[in-house]
Amino acid sequence: MADKAKVAVFISGRGSNMAALLYASFHADSPYELCLVASNDTDAEGLKLAEAEGIATYALSHKGMARSDHDAAMETAAREAGAEYIVLAGYMRILTEGFVSSWEGRMLNIHPSLLPKYPGLDTHARAIEAGDSHGGASVHLVTAELDAGEVLGALPVAIRPGETADSLAERVRFAEHQLYPKILADYVSRDGDADFLLGKVRNLALALPETHERESHGSPGWRVGSEKSGKYFAHFNDQHHGSEHVAVLVKTSSMDELLGLVETQPEVYFKPAYYGASGWIGLILNRPGLDWDNVAEWLERSWRSVAPKRLTQLASAAEEF
Ligand code: GRF
Repeated sequence: MADKAKVAVFISGRGSNMAALLYASFHADSPYELCLVASNDTDAEGLKLAEAEGIATYALSHKGMARSDHDAAMETAAREAGAEYIVLAGYMRILTEGFVSSWEGRMLNIHPSLLPKYPGLDTHARAIEAGDSHGGASVHLVTAELDAGEVLGALPVAIRPGETADSLAERVRFAEHQLYPKILADYVSRDGDADFLLGKVRNLALALPETHERESHGSPGWRVGSEKSGKYFAHFNDQHHGSEHVAVLVKTSSMDELLGLVETQPEVYFKPAYYGASGWIGLILNRPGLDWDNVAEWLERSWRSVAPKRLTQLASAAEEF
């Protein structure tokens, strides 16, 4: 099995979700492992549990510290532990925008409601008060807006007659412990999933003007211009010719550029068989921390290099406004 994704879990208290994530990670087939459990409360119960299981821990009280300094220290601890993902599990801190944006797409949170219902606090009481048939829990990506990032999965929990916020909270915890490890495992696995990667590249490629998809040598490719005379600006490459990479091939400006990039960033770029000779570079997609903005930039650049002038001129004119 490929290397497991490294996950830092941030907690503030009991850490029962962290424990669920931790024990699920002990399954041989878990695609992730915990590299750190960190807390803003030096007495957090979950820290002791993690230590006992041989997981590195880090604790730093936020009291008397500027929010940004505390975030920076927590982030440094996560990076030094080799974290590729940060998973918030009852971490009772509002994070600074800079911290959130530098982990965009790689930071998850669990929230005790069926989002988008009831972001924020008192979720159970609000669900009962509203007469809802179910409460529940959701796992979502963390974005600048509180509890508003893409929901990756949710589980409903029935609200019984006479339910109190506490009794509902207790059962929602059971659901959370089933939900979080499963969603995290699926999420870190999709970074290596060719179908998922293909879908993302396709969306980006087809968002460029006058593009269409056409198969070439058995793989999806994207062209700009008419169906008849269009030119390829990207090819999808799923572990071709013995390579382990799932990649998108895009055009460089010269062989020098291609070779320079491959030499200096071999974890990001490679020279593909056959296509490499005519200046196509392989941009590796199945790697943690992939920056989709960078993929989009490469696609656009490649598109520009073959698109008819009338299209590139239009695009440049639009940029000036
Ligand atoms: C959970 O209910 C979770 O949904 C919320 O905080 C609680 C954490 O509980 N974000 P625990 O510390 O994991 O036991």
